[in-house]
Amino acid sequence: MRKKIVAGNWKMNTLPVEGLALAKDVISSSAGVPNDVELVVIPPFTHLNEVSKLASGTRVAVGAQNCARWEKGAYTGEVSASMLKALGLKYVIVGHSERREYFGETNQHLFEKIVLAHKHDLIPIFCCGEKLQERESNTHFDVVKVQVEEALFKLDESSIKNVVIAYEPVWAIGTGKTATAEQAQEMHAYIRKLLADKYGNDVANSISILYGGSCKPSNAAEIFAKPDVDGGLIGGASLVASDFVAIAKSF
Ligand code: G3H
Repeated sequence: MRKKIVAGNWKMNTLPVEGLALAKDVISSSAGVPNDVELVVIPPFTHLNEVSKLASGTRVAVGAQNCARWEKGAYTGEVSASMLKALGLKYVIVGHSERREYFGETNQHLFEKIVLAHKHDLIPIFCCGEKLQERESNTHFDVVKVQVEEALFKLDESSIKNVVIAYEPVWAIGTGKTATAEQAQEMHAYIRKLLADKYGNDVANSISILYGGSCKPSNAAEIFAKPDVDGGLIGGASLVASDFVAIAKSF
């Protein structure tokens, strides 16, 4: 059975006091979430330490939104995978489309980050997804194929099994325009087929693939019901604890 995951990417939102209150609300309202669904909160760097301490011993795991592609040294403003691990984190997002778009992250960079995340015992949540114009020109499968192949396919079998993939069509992020459940399923199945062709069915069937892009309580159940959708990477709706938990209860 693949792990089901609902992860909240808070992006550049919440001051520390607000983030702690949000994490507390998520923890205290998580009781009705099915036991086989892992809840993850992903705050900004400034309050990772406090949220990580707060969540320790609860059913809520904590992740970071990014890590450096270097181990350590003169990289002003960067935060390394080992620093994140020292805070007790479990996950790190790698290659969110906003990082690709605004910070020029390439698939090669993302591969380097994934290697460092694994070295420091963090599970990367690797993001992929096409832009609107790529979907409209019917190149979305090719775009995602290149992202997956270039960032992931240099990993060996034991490493790839330790990656979570998030399919996030860029046109659906923060726009209110969700991919249909069928569009999500179609791309998730395609990604799993790429993984199966490279690593075999057993490995492909063990990797969780999350959907991200305007996922909310009203549409989560339909999307999560699809066989290749193993959960969600939630942006805006993760900033309201009741919405985030309602999404996790949609399984
Ligand atoms: O990381 C999360 C995704 O970018 C989705 O964001 O739910 O606000 O569309 P959204």
